[in-house]
Amino acid sequence: MSADTPKSSANAMWGGRFSAGPDAIMQAINASIGFDQRLYAQDIAGSRAHAAMLAAQGILSDKDAEAIREGLLTVLSEIEAGKFVFRVEQEDIHMAVEARLTEIVGEAGKRLHTARSRNDQVAVDFRLWVRDQCDAAITGLEALMRAFLAQAEAGADWVMPGFTHLQTAQPVTWGHHMLAYVEMLARDRSRFIDARKRMNECPLGAAALAGTSFPIDRHMTAQALGFDRPTANSLDSVSDRDFALEFLSASSICAMHLSRFAEELVIWSSAQFRFVRLSDKWTTGSSIMPQKKNPDAAELLRAKLGRILGATVALFTVMKGLALTYSKDMQEDKEQVFDAADTLMLALAAMTGMVSDMQAMVDNLRVAAASGFSTATDLADWLVRELGLPFREAHHVTGTLVAMAETKGCDLPELTLADMQSVYAGIRADVFDVLGVVNSVNSRQSYGGTSPVQVRAQIARWKATLA
Ligand code: ARG
Repeated sequence: MSADTPKSSANAMWGGRFSAGPDAIMQAINASIGFDQRLYAQDIAGSRAHAAMLAAQGILSDKDAEAIREGLLTVLSEIEAGKFVFRVEQEDIHMAVEARLTEIVGEAGKRLHTARSRNDQVAVDFRLWVRDQCDAAITGLEALMRAFLAQAEAGADWVMPGFTHLQTAQPVTWGHHMLAYVEMLARDRSRFIDARKRMNECPLGAAALAGTSFPIDRHMTAQALGFDRPTANSLDSVSDRDFALEFLSASSICAMHLSRFAEELVIWSSAQFRFVRLSDKWTTGSSIMPQKKNPDAAELLRAKLGRILGATVALFTVMKGLALTYSKDMQEDKEQVFDAADTLMLALAAMTGMVSDMQAMVDNLRVAAASGFSTATDLADWLVRELGLPFREAHHVTGTLVAMAETKGCDLPELTLADMQSVYAGIRADVFDVLGVVNSVNSRQSYGGTSPVQVRAQIARWKATLA
């Protein structure tokens, strides 16, 4: 099969060396305009900073710089008004903007590309875009942390079962469980802050790969674009995408955290658990089973990591083994990052909505907390503390009592004192105090433990941090 070669003349940007235009399929595989038009604002900002710098350095006349400045603003408003026609012949956003600029301002537009290359141009555009996404992720995470914090505050002392292996382990507090997510999200947030700091160096002026013979001022463009400083090695500047990989990695970890709470919501909202109620806003019905309220949003949130991690793996695979400096492989960075960023922002917003919306079924939580011999550890601890038993022995005595309760079909607090003493004669009646779930959680006063006192202290700390 052969595609038809368009009769169009050679490309206006590099036509000097070419006598024919590209094959249509070449154009289709080569062009990024279909997706990198998303970088238009960053591209125009970069060009404005570049032109102003060229004029300040006497490389471009003030008149040309002014024409370029005005022209770029026109291009920007055309794109924003949806009047701009993106054409595949222009390959990418950088050439599309420059071509339109030249149509509008003529000669001056052709001077804009002095002392730069699309290689440093795409590097700066993409950094600016990813930097914005870091900011959006940070804001989104803060909103979600606040939502979890509000839940924690409402239920600092609601008792619920804590699980290991999804088997009842020990009673914990609702507030404590909510704050566990605040901790995870805070680390996610710090990863975005950290990645943003590291990526905040400006590659513009690295030109194709080696820098330029023109007397440019890279500090000026770096500052104009809000970067901390220019990058220090031109080869590195045009060839690495580690900033995008850091964004994707941080996004993957964050999405992994979201997927864990999503799974808990799915379990908790089931008829078997009934720990939380999700409102109509965050559930869907079934077309056949009238009783159903399905937690679709939670299920989708559980799945979203698949896409984000997929993008991460894809970009690692693109970058792996690429010899320095720029290779066209790197054009494959953008769609992955765009999709991952869109997915993450949607996921954060949806999770924030659901966390704010969910209603804990406090009585069910308490009943569940008291079942499954959840205070067995409290009993063992009592034997150690009050009767001086070595912990291993206390563990054995308690295990025997759990087995006895299981046989009788009751929970630990329903055993009689005589039952207890038949296993270990020294047990006294005050053992029953530690078998209640409220006493159990109240006793967990170690720093970071589940007692409401500790939980309230952590809530106060987080409120101050997020204020
Ligand atoms: N569209 C390209 C990309 O996204 C821009 C850089 C092209 N540079 C080049 N030398 N072909 O990577």
